[in-house]
Amino acid sequence: MKIVSTVVDLRDALRNSKSQSFVPTMGNLHAGHLSLIEQARMVGDCCVASIFVNPLQFGANEDFGSYPRTMDRDCELLEEKGCDLLFAPTIGDLYPEPQTFKLHPDPALADILEGEFRPGFFTGVATVVMKLFQCVFAHAAQPGHAFFGQKDFQQLLIVQRMVQQFALPITVHAVPTSRDFDGLALSSRNGYLSQEERREATALSQALELIRGAVLAGGGDLEGLCAKQIENLRTRGWQPDYLTVRRQADLQRPAQSDTDLVVLGAARLGRTRLIDNMLMNRGSA
Ligand code: PAJ
Repeated sequence: MKIVSTVVDLRDALRNSKSQSFVPTMGNLHAGHLSLIEQARMVGDCCVASIFVNPLQFGANEDFGSYPRTMDRDCELLEEKGCDLLFAPTIGDLYPEPQTFKLHPDPALADILEGEFRPGFFTGVATVVMKLFQCVFAHAAQPGHAFFGQKDFQQLLIVQRMVQQFALPITVHAVPTSRDFDGLALSSRNGYLSQEERREATALSQALELIRGAVLAGGGDLEGLCAKQIENLRTRGWQPDYLTVRRQADLQRPAQSDTDLVVLGAARLGRTRLIDNMLMNRGSA
């Protein structure tokens, strides 16, 4: 696997490839990230990963400084999985001058849910993803492929819309969430959990599973179902930000006739903020 850190070296390394498959990450790789690499290896002629902890998408009180950085181990894992090229820029490489031009996604999609609790988060994500796409795909001879996890469902939707509205020659592939043995969605932030918190952490996916089960069994009072699980998490010592059932297509509140739904949740356990979601299709009414 070749490792480059500057945009010039990245473009140079891609000179002889026709179609790239690309997996952007912030590193501290786990089996979820690696499942994206596995999918990416199946298309294109060059599998590119990036590792960049993007300061633009962290709020002032968030964990930019303490976000786990494990470059050596990440490189070993990528190499084992057969990744061809790693782009690992420094902040100065990717932002040689302050990034004052930014991409602001549609507030209807970006200011709700995660965006409500992390203002500016999706502007930071959209800006860096667009920039990474420019770096990786700008000179591609054929349309590119980019891989995103369903774990960050709102992010996936925003990237899909961005690609569509800017007519980028990129296919966005959605990869299902990888989970630990007890259902906890794999996340780099799981490493912040104490042993006791790690045992408790499964309660978030359980809450989402309970809501999904109730909706699929015909439960129509979506707000009531979510309120009950929010209360349950609170009693167990969590601080939930939201648990809510939305339409898959645009994350708005579903009408009776909507069938493709997603239950999304975010909650803090101690100092760790966890997010998760589950898709469901409740069949036509
Ligand atoms: P990061 O959190 O490192 O995630 C990189 C990619 O891995 C994202 O597409 C994310 O959805 C996916 N992923 C994370 N956990 C997963 C899991 N358990 N199962 C499946 N996929 C999973 O998301 C980001 O980085 C950043 O916002 C980024 C897109 C790189 C922009 O900075």
